[in-house]
Amino acid sequence: TEFDVETVFAVALKAVKDAGEIIKEAFYKKKAVVTKSCDVDLVTETDQAVEKMLISRIKENFPNHMFIGEESVAAGEKCDLTDEPTWIVDPVDGTMNFVHSFPHSCISLAVLYRKDIHVGIIYNPTLEQMYTAKLGQGAFLNGKPIRVSEETELGKSLVIAEFGTNRDPQKMESVLKNITALMNKVHGLRAMGSAALNMSSVASGGSDCYFEYGIHVWDIAAGTLIVREAGGVCIDTEGGPLDLMSRRMICASSEKLALQIIPLLTQLKLERD
Ligand code: IPD
Repeated sequence: TEFDVETVFAVALKAVKDAGEIIKEAFYKKKAVVTKSCDVDLVTETDQAVEKMLISRIKENFPNHMFIGEESVAAGEKCDLTDEPTWIVDPVDGTMNFVHSFPHSCISLAVLYRKDIHVGIIYNPTLEQMYTAKLGQGAFLNGKPIRVSEETELGKSLVIAEFGTNRDPQKMESVLKNITALMNKVHGLRAMGSAALNMSSVASGGSDCYFEYGIHVWDIAAGTLIVREAGGVCIDTEGGPLDLMSRRMICASSEKLALQIIPLLTQLKLERD
C-alpha cells in the first residue's frame, strides 16, 4: 500500500471536524472526570468517545494503518512507532481546560509514514480554529497560510512554559527552576494548558517559543509539523534533533531564539514513550 497524503489528509480532516462536534456538544456541560496517573491527570468520557470515533474512522478507511492514541495507551496498548503509516492522536489535548470549560483545548492528530510526519491537524472546536499542515506544503489556520514571528531576541520574546499535569516533586521542581531562570529575561511568560495549541500559537506568530518536559508523542506530533511548515524550529531541549518519543521538546520562531533559551534550562530525564 503506497501512502497517498491527499487521501489521508481528506479523511483525517473530516474525522477531526466530526470529532469537534462531540467536543462542542459536551463543552459547557458538567463532565464525568476520572483521574489517571495522579489527581491532576484527567480523562473524561469525551476523550474516550473522540478516540473511539477516530479509531473506527481509520479502520474503515485504512485497515492497514497503525494507531497510537493517548487513551489507548492509558488503557494498556503499546506505543510503538514503526515505518508503517501511523496515526498519532490526542483526542482532547488540554483535558484540564476542557473539564473547566476554559475554551482552550483541541484535538491533535498526526499521520506519520516511515517515521516522517506527513499530516498534522490541530482543531480547537470551541473557538473554531483549525490548524493544518502537509509535509512540504506550508501551514494554515482555517485555510489561510500562517508564519512564525520574526522574533530572534530573548528579551523581546513571549515564551510559553507549562506546569504540566504531574505532581512528581522532581518534575515540579524542574518547572519552577525553568520558569525562574526565564522570567526576568523574556518579555513575558505564559501557560495555557494545551501543548498542541501552544505549538499552534508559535506557528502562527502569537508567541515565540514553547518548551516542555513530560509531554508525550501525541501532544507534539501534529504541532511539530505545523511549526516547521510555518518556518519555525522544533528541536530537542539540549539542542539536537527532536526525538518524538523522548518526552521533551522546544519549538521556536527561529533556531537563534531556541539556542538562547536552551542554556537556561535545567534538563529533566524521563522514561521514553
Ligand atoms: C496535557 C496538556 C498540557 C501539558 C501536559 C499534557 P492532555 O495534555 O497538553 O498543556 O502541560 O504535559 O499532558 O493530558 O490534556 O492531553
